[in-house]
Amino acid sequence: MPYTRREKILDACIAITFVATVCTVILFALLLTVLRPKCPVQKILPSITVAIDGSGDFRTVSDAVAAAPSHSRKYFGIAIKPGVYYEEVSVPVEKTRLAFIGGGNGVTVISSNRSWSNPLEDTAATLNVKGDGFVAIDITFENSGNPTTGYTVAVANDAERTAFIHCSFKGYKGVLKTSGFAQFYGRSNVYGAVDVIWGIGSTVFQSCSVYVEKPLAGQDQPRALAFQQRSSPSSTGGFVFQGCSLDASPGSDQSGSPPVFLGRPGGAYSRIVFMESYLGAVLGPSAGWLTGSFIPPATLYLKEYNNRGPGVGPAERRINTTDATQFTVGPFIEGDKWLPKTYVEYTSGFL
Ligand SMILES: *[C@@H]1O[C@H](CO)[C@@H](O)[C@H](O)[C@H]1NC(C)=O
Ligand SMILES: *[C@@H]1O[C@H](CO)[C@@H](O)[C@H](O)[C@H]1NC(C)=O
Repeated sequence: MPYTRREKILDACIAITFVATVCTVILFALLLTVLRPKCPVQKILPSITVAIDGSGDFRTVSDAVAAAPSHSRKYFGIAIKPGVYYEEVSVPVEKTRLAFIGGGNGVTVISSNRSWSNPLEDTAATLNVKGDGFVAIDITFENSGNPTTGYTVAVANDAERTAFIHCSFKGYKGVLKTSGFAQFYGRSNVYGAVDVIWGIGSTVFQSCSVYVEKPLAGQDQPRALAFQQRSSPSSTGGFVFQGCSLDASPGSDQSGSPPVFLGRPGGAYSRIVFMESYLGAVLGPSAGWLTGSFIPPATLYLKEYNNRGPGVGPAERRINTTDATQFTVGPFIEGDKWLPKTYVEYTSGFL
């Protein structure tokens, strides 16, 4: 049967319609991909804002904390705009899961100047955390108080499952107290000279820099990086420095100063592990525990794994991969159970 002209036109029409339909479908698919709403940002969003210039909901951080919900099961974000906030901030036990979100490390600064020497008093600190689940992002905490009259504590953290990321801690003596179970400090800087980090906490510092300051004139007491206070074998406490850099503060010539000790034991079972880190010359290769004239108990635990730099200690301080694994974020602070909800960057195992 010969093809009629009419049939040819019909065939052509069908072909054109088919091609046009396919093109339209492809076009729509492309448009949908481009115009599709962006995935929600993976971070804690602020519910209220603090701004020193009055442009936010509150002018002081303390007022914002007072206004935050108590016993919260969800993270409650408080944005803290750039500026220096001169105040002492307390996060009490009932203020759970607060997240301070600053404008940048060194850009949003919380500062106070009270030094603390009375062990019967609660620690005077620029930030005092007792509420579990606390998170701080992009903030500098400093205590510029007089170190000759006591510890100058920037942050005293007694809470569980807390995380600080992209923060700085500045002071001279006892700068950061870490005393709760499961504390994580990531990509942060700590500046201090004596007992810089102290407490009974089970704490991991990951990808942090610890800058040991030069001794102040007349302050010739021995310096220790960490004053770890684990006192029983059943305690989960211990400090882990993973992927950290531990060195003299930038530009400070400390060649004439006595070496800095890695730790000072505040309990018979004090425990500190340095892994995958850079140990600078300021630490001195032999600087271990600062025990003065005391004979250190054999139960102290100061270990190294896969470190580098002139401050690396003797071979008997090294542990094997199996032992070191126990001190990574997953096993040691059960990080995989709670850190993902904070959205802070972390690595569960070795770096
Ligand atoms: C300490 O801080 C308070 C409150 O900001 C301030 O009034 C005082 O001048 C400061 N003292 C010193 C010695 O810096
Ligand atoms: C690792 O070291 C511990 C001692 O701290 C030892 O008991 C264990 O057998 C070692 N494991 C391996 C795989 O070498």
